[in-house]
Amino acid sequence: MKNLAGKVALVSGSGRGIGRAIALKLARHGARVVVNDLDEAPALEVVEAIRLEGGEAVACVGSVTAEGFAERFVQTAVDHFQGLDIIVNNAGYTWDNVIQKMSDEQWDAILDVHLKAPFKILRAAQPIMRAFSKAEAEAGQEVFRKVVNISSIAGLGGNAGQANYSAGKAGIIGLTLALAKEWGRMKVNVNCVAFGFIKTRLTEATADANASVDIEGRHIKVGLNPDLAKSFERSIPLGRAGTPEEAANAVYLLCTPESDYISGQTLVCGGGLSGT
Ligand SMILES: NC(=O)c1ccc[n+]([C@@H]2O[C@H](COP(=O)([O-])OP(=O)(O)OC[C@H]3O[C@@H](n4cnc5c(N)ncnc54)[C@H](O)[C@@H]3O)[C@@H](O)[C@H]2O)c1
Repeated sequence: MKNLAGKVALVSGSGRGIGRAIALKLARHGARVVVNDLDEAPALEVVEAIRLEGGEAVACVGSVTAEGFAERFVQTAVDHFQGLDIIVNNAGYTWDNVIQKMSDEQWDAILDVHLKAPFKILRAAQPIMRAFSKAEAEAGQEVFRKVVNISSIAGLGGNAGQANYSAGKAGIIGLTLALAKEWGRMKVNVNCVAFGFIKTRLTEATADANASVDIEGRHIKVGLNPDLAKSFERSIPLGRAGTPEEAANAVYLLCTPESDYISGQTLVCGGGLSGT
């Protein structure tokens, strides 16, 4: 029997990087997954990869910040899989600058994607989770559901040049703490995973100082200068950056039945970096 058999999981931003690895990991353990990404092609690729391994998945393409997205995301789970057991708020990117050069647009975009979007997704999920948990309680069952919000060591210790991102990633920890208290009665475990340095397109070492990706029509700089990436890796006690699969493993731990009595916690997955 697979650990997550019968569970239905939403994973935002799961077309690439850590989210992709989370979607595959949860599916391999039996969860049926709603794959979301801003970009359609990578989202469909992940759905196909899950199906090829014998799992079940469906895509829900769109920006987590779009009007009405949260309701559409949770409804996709109910319509396709008749359930809603796991929510992983992972979608996001960085848009850095020192505070004196940071625009309102830059601040708002990063707070929207890392904090307001998870809030709206969780708010939309509440009535559905509440209905399931009420029916289960009436039947004398105790069924645990899981929320895993993705934070960063920047949210724990701050990072120069990332006032917006650090604030968003600290804010999601606050949201997690509040909901762990609010949703305990619905038997929902609400936790965070804060990553250190994980190798994805966000953090890939590149000599191209102009490397960028298109996020909702904006050119956002990605990647790290190779020297900076090397010196950052040297500061990691385990001696290297993490892989998306290692990052996904930390999220998986907080989705398993073994974590049923853990709520309101932030697990740091940083190879020994603590962030503080
Ligand atoms: N890579 C790291 O070292 C690191 C460290 C700490 C935290 N994180 C966090 O982990 C999460 C995943 O990052 P990653 O490194 O895998 O990045 P990534 O760029 O490899 O993948 C992120 C995915 O999210 C999608 N996305 C971005 N904005 C979106 C939106 N508005 N709506 C829907 N999808 C959207 C992107 O298209 C992309 O496919 C982010 O929340 C990031 O802040 C990453």
